[in-house]
Amino acid sequence: MAIEIKSSKDIEKMRTAGRLAAEVLDIIKPHVRAGVSTAELDRLCHKYIVNDLDSIPAPLNYLGFPKSICTSVNNVVCHGIPSDKLLKKGDIVNIDITVIKDGYHGDTSKMFIVGKPSVKAQRICRVAQECMYIGIKKVKPGIRLGEIGRAIGAHAIKNNCSVVRDYCGHGIGLKFHSEPQVLHYDDGKVDQSPILEEGMTFTIEPMINLGGHEVSTSIVDGWTVTTKDRSLSAQWEHTILVTNNGHEILTIRDEEFL
Ligand code: MF3
Ligand code: CO
Ligand code: CO
Repeated sequence: MAIEIKSSKDIEKMRTAGRLAAEVLDIIKPHVRAGVSTAELDRLCHKYIVNDLDSIPAPLNYLGFPKSICTSVNNVVCHGIPSDKLLKKGDIVNIDITVIKDGYHGDTSKMFIVGKPSVKAQRICRVAQECMYIGIKKVKPGIRLGEIGRAIGAHAIKNNCSVVRDYCGHGIGLKFHSEPQVLHYDDGKVDQSPILEEGMTFTIEPMINLGGHEVSTSIVDGWTVTTKDRSLSAQWEHTILVTNNGHEILTIRDEEFL
């Protein structure tokens, strides 16, 4: 199956969806504090997406997911379900937002550190963000898709961290998840991976662990993915467009410098 090339009309709509998803991460920022529940963060994001952005929260009912955002705390790698459990000082939490506007998806996530960050917390969040940016920097027409994962994996190893292999980035557009699978590590098949072309859109969303790369999925809720060794995990995500000479980060926020 081929990777879809977006038309300029598609791209305009992807830009809008991406901008709106980024906006949700901006508005939720002041609410991510000790004592707030992740369910409350979910309600705030849901309301903002539906009422202010006139958009749809893509996770809600997606393959049965019960909430509008994912909130993944500490050793939770991804797909954490918002709950009544309160955030406390020292927690790290990934908030993952996907909005649908005019049929098109924008998908982005970032880490928040609650209260005064521990050295470990700060390190894993920083390394994961660096991994994402290093992957993004590679993106231009003519490179192999696998070069993204190779660069990310090398940075993680250099920092004594591991890359989750069971989940990857994905093509995105009218569908939430489509081809290609964007690996965040070197699977040894970089030279067989597709060549990037202008008009492709996909996410880069490395999940980086302080310990080993192995993960397990909760048999209780069927969603929550945790590190097997209970080590901290961090993830950052952007939706990327391949342009004629490089890339555009469709979900970029004002607080970023790139
Ligand atoms: N937003 C996640 C991603 O980056 C997917 C969440 S799927 C859900 O691909 F069902 F858990 F919401
Ligand atoms: Co994604
Ligand atoms: Co996401």
